Amino acid sequence: MPLQLPHHLFFVCLAILGSAYFAASHQESGDWHCEPNEEARIEAQFRAGIVTLDGRADDWADIGGFDFPLRPALDPDEDKEYDDGKMTVKALHDGTDVYFMLQVNGEYIYSKGDDHKCPSVALMFQVGDSATYHDMGGCKESPDTCNSTSCRGYEVDIMHFSIGNSIPGRLYGGYSIYGDSNGDRIGLVDMYSWNPHCRNVDNSGPSGNNSTVLNNWKGAWWHSSFKTHSGFIEDDSPYASSGQKGTYYFEFSRPLRTTDLLQQDAQFTIGQSSKFSAAFWYPTDGNPWHGSGHYTVSCDWVPMDITPGSSTRAKVASGSSWDAASGFALLLSFVAFCVSMFVGYWVSKSKSLPFTPIDHL
Ligand SMILES: *[C@@H]1O[C@H](CO)[C@@H](O)[C@H](O)[C@H]1NC(C)=O
Ligand SMILES: *[C@@H]1O[C@H](CO)[C@@H](O)[C@H](O)[C@H]1NC(C)=O
Ligand SMILES: *[C@@H]1O[C@H](CO)[C@@H](O)[C@H](O)[C@H]1NC(C)=O
Repeated sequence: MPLQLPHHLFFVCLAILGSAYFAASHQESGDWHCEPNEEARIEAQFRAGIVTLDGRADDWADIGGFDFPLRPALDPDEDKEYDDGKMTVKALHDGTDVYFMLQVNGEYIYSKGDDHKCPSVALMFQVGDSATYHDMGGCKESPDTCNSTSCRGYEVDIMHFSIGNSIPGRLYGGYSIYGDSNGDRIGLVDMYSWNPHCRNVDNSGPSGNNSTVLNNWKGAWWHSSFKTHSGFIEDDSPYASSGQKGTYYFEFSRPLRTTDLLQQDAQFTIGQSSKFSAAFWYPTDGNPWHGSGHYTVSCDWVPMDITPGSSTRAKVASGSSWDAASGFALLLSFVAFCVSMFVGYWVSKSKSLPFTPIDHL
């Protein structure tokens, strides 16, 4: 019996899919010209004992990430996008620490001792409830008047890794600020800010010194053009010949909670969402980069869900229970349903296609 499919059903499918696409592509923009991708989101799942903090990405292969276009932070225009591809950001946690992997394509550039002639990355997290992505916290005070009282609630936490003095594959960070760090050779710094002009290394600035505040971040970097696996030392610099195509890897970890008492570190909670951003500096045409000349992954905060370990499909506290992933899954299954309808319809119309039982072959 031939399967007679009502052929208008196919067009109903088409119409619904079309309106879904239209709804998804329409977005309001605010005063600050910014149209963030509503689907941009990363999930730090509980995956203990998977990754080693060495800058290599092989151990991250099974972890899903999100591919972010990199646009200039001060002019997030599509035309000015970083043209060597997107930045993939992956995250996970092991119940104690949270781990990040940032991957971005780029020809190998390295200039020993000159951070501004090497690529560089930063992560930024919301600390205070009022802290905006735009203007790194967005406190309206000037450098003369900003302090922990006048800018209370506008704190953001920043980790910046400059690699000019950092050997690939080696571990950096994790020191006490006024302990074993050695001045200007610090490559991986833990900072906080209220706005771009009120930015300080943790435990310094108007909030004062407090020995309980440490640099809790650790990190390592790598480039896919490197050959050695036994470990680089400083004498191996520049570690590979320049101009080779490949991918830069930046890997970080930090405890979910820190001993910060001054609202200078973001605190992460399993089962909750945090707000983050990532930035990338790249020296183009041999010119050093400038502080404000960086790309970022979005023109607003990106949600990061830290999911619990127990259930397979963890429910995360967030603004909306209808998250992008389940919406997309539903859309996909609907597309699949429509395609099967269409194939069935097409097969039933093609009378020339005979049904051949296998045992007659
Ligand atoms: C913070 O800044 C405000 C405004 O400039 C000032 O009145 C206040 O005394 C400062 N507080 C501290 C603790 O420095
Ligand atoms: C913090 O410590 C540094 C280094 O010891 C010192 O130079 C600076 O004056 C101190 N700042 C405050 C506000 O105490
Ligand atoms: C550091 O913070 C603790 C707790 O707030 C306080 O008791 C201590 O006096 C602070 N130390 C300095 C040097 O400010």
